Amino acid sequence: MKFNIRTHTCGELREQNIGEKVILNGWVDRRRDLGGLIFIWLRDRYGITQVVFEPDINKEAYELAKKLRSEFVISVEGTVRKRPEDAINKELETGSVDVLADKLLILNEAETPPFSIKDETDAFEDLRLKYRYLDLRRPALQQVLLLRHRMYQLVRKYFDEKNFVEIETPVLMKSTPEGARDYLVPSRVHKGKFYALPQSPQQYKQLLMVSGFDRYFQIVKCFRDEDLRADRQPEFTQIDVEMSFITKEEVFNVVEGLMKLLFKNVWDVDLHQPIKRLSYDEAMTRYGSDKPDLRFGMEIHILNEVFNQTEFKVFKEALMMEDGMKETINLKKGIVAGIVAPGCASFSRNQIDGLTNFVKGLGAKGLVWLKVQENGIDSPTAKFLSDGEKENLLSELKAQPNDLILILAGNKNSTLNQMGSLRLELAKRLELIKPETPPSLLWVTDFPLFEYDEETKRFYAMHHPFTSPRLEEIDLLEKDPGKIKAQAYDLVLNGSEIAGGSIRIHNSELQSRMFKALGISDEEANQKFGFLMNAFKYGAPPHGGIAFGFDRMVMLFAGVDSIRDTIAFPKTASAMSLMDECPSSVSEEQLKELHLKIKD
Ligand code: AMO
Repeated sequence: MKFNIRTHTCGELREQNIGEKVILNGWVDRRRDLGGLIFIWLRDRYGITQVVFEPDINKEAYELAKKLRSEFVISVEGTVRKRPEDAINKELETGSVDVLADKLLILNEAETPPFSIKDETDAFEDLRLKYRYLDLRRPALQQVLLLRHRMYQLVRKYFDEKNFVEIETPVLMKSTPEGARDYLVPSRVHKGKFYALPQSPQQYKQLLMVSGFDRYFQIVKCFRDEDLRADRQPEFTQIDVEMSFITKEEVFNVVEGLMKLLFKNVWDVDLHQPIKRLSYDEAMTRYGSDKPDLRFGMEIHILNEVFNQTEFKVFKEALMMEDGMKETINLKKGIVAGIVAPGCASFSRNQIDGLTNFVKGLGAKGLVWLKVQENGIDSPTAKFLSDGEKENLLSELKAQPNDLILILAGNKNSTLNQMGSLRLELAKRLELIKPETPPSLLWVTDFPLFEYDEETKRFYAMHHPFTSPRLEEIDLLEKDPGKIKAQAYDLVLNGSEIAGGSIRIHNSELQSRMFKALGISDEEANQKFGFLMNAFKYGAPPHGGIAFGFDRMVMLFAGVDSIRDTIAFPKTASAMSLMDECPSSVSEEQLKELHLKIKD
């Protein structure tokens, strides 16, 4: 069908266009027939313009307009008019004008959509994902993808100007253990062999440093078969970065520069450098999280000193696990930890039961609560505590009358984690984070190099096995691996980990010591990482880098709650695409070619 190219978009017309003849193309957002007058809201990605059909202007167009339904695609010609004062719509950017139509072309009809295309939709997400192409017509979702586009451009320009080279790395690669499960692709040509989709381009970017590229970046898809949450997708995008001849400080500088640019461009907020840093141990003991949200206070206090002579069974048993605070944070030791909910002594029994159930759901045995009153402490636990303990507790926590004290006791790691979650839950219930609360960006540094797994009784790399230990602690590799800290760092925005990286091991001797400490034999190391170890024999420069979770960044910058809202065609929490119904079965023929058989 022949139609005329638009002169303006549906978000463009203003008072200065009054009197102009214009052509608009778009979708019918809604239609109101007032009998003798038809109003259409015409929508495209730029906005909405009201078009009016009157029989006196063009009878034929008016009659055709009666047929219009939501989501019909049309082309309209007409004249821009000023709206009468009482008809101005301040919600629309084009709201002071409308277009009096003298020509209408229906370019395509549309079935009634399964949900209405509006920002405030009550349609279930599953339905919206099944018809994602319609969901993506919703202006709110379009805005997020437009922001995502703008952020890509800023990122590319930033790295290009800083002399980084964008290099693509393979999507079909060797399966290597990297933390999550790999997505595997069977080979047709090589019977019984598999490619893996990259969990990240980690090894390739290190190889590019060996090749001398010096500064690399890539906006790249990564694939991880892991349990999904609101901020995780099985395929997601990283801004991957690696640099040679640098220290941690240079990496921080480059990253902070990018964050400064994004803060300014997206939020119009000036980010002050250098940004805050917390060691992993400090983050865990003060906030019970390795990605603390510092938009509010409510720090955790370790109360081991206050209760070191206690007769209260719950605390005593926890502390009998040994006073762990002198030891490294990732060993199993007991603690008593408390937090003050300011002004919450008025919490009802119901509210406190709610918090108790919350921590029980995280594995805590119970929650000790004490209401601070003008004349003492009101709590079922108070009678088990000595006057000295109560006094020291109030002074350690700097608790004031009307505050609510919440205490957990038990194994150090789990207690801190539970406290961290309780802290976030309280902030949510007390609405401590307001839309106007300034964002909080920080580095968490000095992660433990290894994590000990109680079940398999062995150490695992907390980041990945190429992360360099702090050089001053290398000797502990064989003696006491649990105590070594890594030259690893995470960037945390509003309590979300948006990037992680490290300075790498660049010498093969240290790399084999690392594998030994991880219980990976030479043979296994050679089989899995031989190419990287080999490359390191030929002059690997000192190097390090970082990768940003780009979808997560867009989610935070756009202020949306789900990572799915930042991705055009996302997967559900069970890793399915409801629109094209994948994963799906394949034919016997395809399976045969791939030398595969599905077991019942
Ligand atoms: P890491 O595994 O920490 O590091 O990943 C980097 C960042 O990617 C984001 N991320 C995810 N986003 C969405 N869905 C997921 N499933 C998901 N998993 C991770 C997070 C995280 O901070 N190769 C190293 C980086 C390096 O050392 O340079 C790596 O991949 O925001």
